[in-house]
Amino acid sequence: MASIWAKKPLSAYEADMKKSGLKKVLGKWSLTAIGVGAIIGGGIFVLTGTGAYYHAGPALAISFIIAGIACVFAALCYAEFASIIPVEGSAYAYAYGTVGEIFAWAMGWCLILEYAMASMAVAVSWSGYFTKFLKIFGVHLPAYLTSDPASYTGTGFSMNLPAFILVLLLTALLVKGTKEAAGANNLIVLLKTAAVIFVIISGAYIIFSNTDLYSAVDGVKNWKPFIPDETLIKNSEDKMVSAYGIKGIISGAAAIFFAYIGFDAVSTQAGEAINPKKDVPFAIITSLLICTALYICVSLVLTGMMNYTDFNPAGKYPEAIKAPVAYAFEIAGKHWASNIVTIAATVGLISVVMVMMMGQSRIFIGMAKDGLIPKFFGELHPKTRTPYKGIIILGLVVAFVAALTPISTLADMTSFGTLFAFTLVCIAVWVMRKKEPNLNRPFKVPAYKLVVALGVIINIYLIFNLSAHALELSAGWLVLGIFVYIFYGKNNSKLNNPDKITED
Ligand code: ALA
Repeated sequence: MASIWAKKPLSAYEADMKKSGLKKVLGKWSLTAIGVGAIIGGGIFVLTGTGAYYHAGPALAISFIIAGIACVFAALCYAEFASIIPVEGSAYAYAYGTVGEIFAWAMGWCLILEYAMASMAVAVSWSGYFTKFLKIFGVHLPAYLTSDPASYTGTGFSMNLPAFILVLLLTALLVKGTKEAAGANNLIVLLKTAAVIFVIISGAYIIFSNTDLYSAVDGVKNWKPFIPDETLIKNSEDKMVSAYGIKGIISGAAAIFFAYIGFDAVSTQAGEAINPKKDVPFAIITSLLICTALYICVSLVLTGMMNYTDFNPAGKYPEAIKAPVAYAFEIAGKHWASNIVTIAATVGLISVVMVMMMGQSRIFIGMAKDGLIPKFFGELHPKTRTPYKGIIILGLVVAFVAALTPISTLADMTSFGTLFAFTLVCIAVWVMRKKEPNLNRPFKVPAYKLVVALGVIINIYLIFNLSAHALELSAGWLVLGIFVYIFYGKNNSKLNNPDKITED
């Protein structure tokens, strides 16, 4: 009898891993680079201004700490699973092996929100920096070619052409091969990390050497008060909403949560890792810790250089909120530094889009293998060994949606999918510990009951701090997923329909 709670036995994962045609090319630092490459992106380069002005003020650094802690709990749980089931399906595979098929389906469906939507959101933020980048060379793209129809203020046709073209180019690169893609990624990650360190060092230098920003007696002037009193301000939809204070710090953590998404992308690459059981947990935790430290420093430097009230889009610097890091340097009179940041962000955001698309295509492989989505999503190219059909379909969808949708909608839905997936992974660790206490776990979550409980509470709390609009759209996505499961997944799942199994 078909059961929505059917579990995929761990032995089946081991067999899948042996059969996998993916090339084992990724070492622990390549995997860490994939994590850092996926994490540092639109969040730190774009959402910091929003977080400072609409939510936390200089206390944005505390928002980053809170969001970082929420991620650490989930990262530990991901690491434990990656050490037990190092296959390319990530959290989806963990769910299938522990709680059962319907849980796995919910997870896979949420991960599509996370990965595919994130690649769209970052492609759109890249387009903003790319447009600024072209301006350095005197090239001005018309607004109708850089705006989605909802954000376009003119009349007639409009689309985000740079985002559209970027996604198509990356699709071609990903079809060509993981090694080529990972090679390019390592270079970009180095550049992007160097740029973030440059922001921290040069920003700190500007603050501490400028008497307008820093005095030996008063300290950093823009950090005072560090936690501004709670107050009402106009949000981007012209509604009066509360900001700052403790509440502002929490809503700020939900708003910038997007910046941390990506460390789990490491776990989607387990199928290509040379030593997945040790290196994937290492890379997940290391990439998260590196980025948390960098983010806290960047947010401090940013709010030290520029007063948080100056990110007001209706204020003195209306453009600052779109590219806050670059503008903070420009306003401090350091145009060369602003240009460096613009160039690095333009190059750096590319790797985030790429890693997110790569992660999504690997989740497709996992689901296709299990019969929950059509088989062609998992078919590998005979020469390049990449899941080319899945990548091409994904690339076309991502390119079109990114060209036509506003970034705020995409970013909020990404955060919902991720927080939901994190919550499910935490629960799955607990279930697995109870059901399979003797399983070999090369990596174990310390004090797992406490970590799981705190992980679930903090992730759910952040979900409720997302915008109501994002919650509605995401709930709609989940309902659609249930229909797809009932009418396709359940009837084609290999686990529930053993008579349909064909050797692949
Ligand atoms: N964390 C990724 C970013 O900030 C999604 O762009």
